[in-house]
Amino acid sequence: MIETSIKIKEALEHGRRTFAASDIEDPKLEAEVLLRHVLNIDRVRLYLDTGRELSAAEYATYRLVLKRRLNGEPSAYITGHREFFGLDFYVDYRVLIPRPETEIMVETALEFASARPVHLIADIGTGSGAVAVSLATRLTRATIYAVDISDEALTVAAENARKHGVSDRIRFLRGDLLAPIPEAVDMIIANLPYVKEAELREVNTWGYEPALALDGGKDGLDVIRRLIGQLKGKLKPGGALLMEIGAGQGSAVTEILADTFPRSELRLISDGAGFDRVVTLTIT
Ligand SMILES: C[S@@+](CC[C@H](N)C(=O)[O-])C[C@H]1O[C@@H](n2cnc3c(N)ncnc32)[C@H](O)[C@@H]1O
Repeated sequence: MIETSIKIKEALEHGRRTFAASDIEDPKLEAEVLLRHVLNIDRVRLYLDTGRELSAAEYATYRLVLKRRLNGEPSAYITGHREFFGLDFYVDYRVLIPRPETEIMVETALEFASARPVHLIADIGTGSGAVAVSLATRLTRATIYAVDISDEALTVAAENARKHGVSDRIRFLRGDLLAPIPEAVDMIIANLPYVKEAELREVNTWGYEPALALDGGKDGLDVIRRLIGQLKGKLKPGGALLMEIGAGQGSAVTEILADTFPRSELRLISDGAGFDRVVTLTIT
């Protein structure tokens, strides 16, 4: 029998137990995020009002979103939000949900920009615009080309740029990797698809996120390899390329870069778990 009235505290516990039983990671957090979305309240209000009863309509909506989540739909698509680098981004099925590990690449970019002037940046495969918008809010004098092959992704990225008040410094370009960049830039930053074809189905958001954002071909490096092939003349002297890579792709990618640019400086950065995460190349 379905209960018709339920308090916030009970709804949270119901969500937590349902998710835990289905082996969903962070069941408590997931239940909390979804209930806050349904009730349109912040975390503080949720915990101040644990005794408040949900209306019948709120409870019905909550049950519906629990079901969507149980079917595999990511919470970020259900709520339309994902936080990245301390900013709230609008996301939906048109774009990859920004991942926390991508913040390492953004931090590396800010480090680079603190050591030398960076006026022009290109964010390749911008998706939701998470990287371009985060950089634009921090590097307030830089202009950023944000490129994606997907028109739909560019629409979402433009919306996020507006939301954070940086539209005037981001130029959105549709096209293949570096092809649409009209001039050499100080920094190219790219989180391209790098999942091996055979491992795509293991991605826990598979079937929801665009395959175009994940699929890196047979060895995961198809798109990265093509970008490196287009790189000549696209960086100013002293400029840098920063790319996110998959765990275990570090030596293959540094090898391709060293072969193509023997006089460059290469760096491999790991994440907190010790996996390869970002590769940087500086043109000397
Ligand atoms: C892994 S997602 C990264 C999205 C976003 N930058 C982030 O870090 O959250 C890769 C993005 O690259 C785009 N993409 C794939 N192939 C591309 C290509 N050949 N040229 C430009 N963009 C491409 C996809 O549409 C997708 O938005």
